[in-house]
Amino acid sequence: MENSKLIEQIKEKYEKLGENPETHLKGLLTAKPINYWDYLHIETLLSLQNPRTDFKDEEIFIMYHQMTELVLKMIVHEVKQIVSEPDPSDDYLITKISRVNRYTKLLITSFAIMKDGMDYDDYNIFRNTLTPASGFQSAQFRFIELYCTRLSNLVSNSQKDSLDSNATMEQRFEKLYWKDAGLNRKTGKKTLTLTQFEKKYQQKLMTLAQDLEGKTIEDKLLLNGQPGDELIKVLKRFDYLYNVKWPIVHLGTAQHYLDSKGENKQATGGSEWKKYLHPAYQQRRFFPSLWSEEELADWGNLNLEQ
Ligand code: HEM
Repeated sequence: MENSKLIEQIKEKYEKLGENPETHLKGLLTAKPINYWDYLHIETLLSLQNPRTDFKDEEIFIMYHQMTELVLKMIVHEVKQIVSEPDPSDDYLITKISRVNRYTKLLITSFAIMKDGMDYDDYNIFRNTLTPASGFQSAQFRFIELYCTRLSNLVSNSQKDSLDSNATMEQRFEKLYWKDAGLNRKTGKKTLTLTQFEKKYQQKLMTLAQDLEGKTIEDKLLLNGQPGDELIKVLKRFDYLYNVKWPIVHLGTAQHYLDSKGENKQATGGSEWKKYLHPAYQQRRFFPSLWSEEELADWGNLNLEQ
């Protein structure tokens, strides 16, 4: 583009905004050039690892959790766009869900960083300083569930019968599977992990669930009539990666650190973790209508890798 045309366009842009274009052009003369570290806030990013102990590998623990939260944010970025699209086509959904699948796959294949990235004995000491904090309190993990599926799919299996078909959204919300997992089995009271999480995020999660009523990805799919084979394939893959495969690699790590010598240690979040985290028990799925009876019955052993 010719320089004069470019300047003309810049002038037009600022005049439309009611600004003096000349002032902005003069500003360009003195503005400092952008650089990598300022644009990406690298120094801030690298200052966010603050271990609570002197054990070296605690930093790995912190960084991998932070990295996961960034990847979860990438997933949120996509699922949020899908739910705000009034009438998404199959092609649009395939593109978006394929992105989400790549992000989820990254979380699965990188999990060895956590499993093999920390000295076993050191971890088992520094984790004492983390109680009652737990990945259970990851709000983004819960946001993704809410964007993807109807609340009824997230109700704890043991609580399903206690809800009648016209239960309100608020009643369903109180029976979510993770709320059930956050109860102390001996006393029936909420653990501190759950109480603190609710104090911080209950309102936000509830508002999001209300806003998403009838608009989740599952709702869109059911409304869409007959999704094509390719779309069904990527959606099933997402359900499998997020709700079977990731939970299995995560559980493998928990087992490695908490039970590899048969010690069955108490988790920082205080849940009955061995049972709770296994997909065969949890039965969390986003798109149940896409799966056959046999696949649903064998949820914890499902393998779509071949
Ligand atoms: C040494 C590494 C890890 C161990 C031993 C571990 C252990 C556990 C345990 C035992 C629970 C059950 C809740 C509780 O009682 O605390 C849990 C839940 C959870 N953790 Fe981890 N975890 C590890 C790493 C991670 C990482 C890196 C993430 C990524 C953010 C993560 C995310 C989660 C999530 C989202 C839940 C809730 C799962 C659900 O509701 O299905 N965990 N973890």
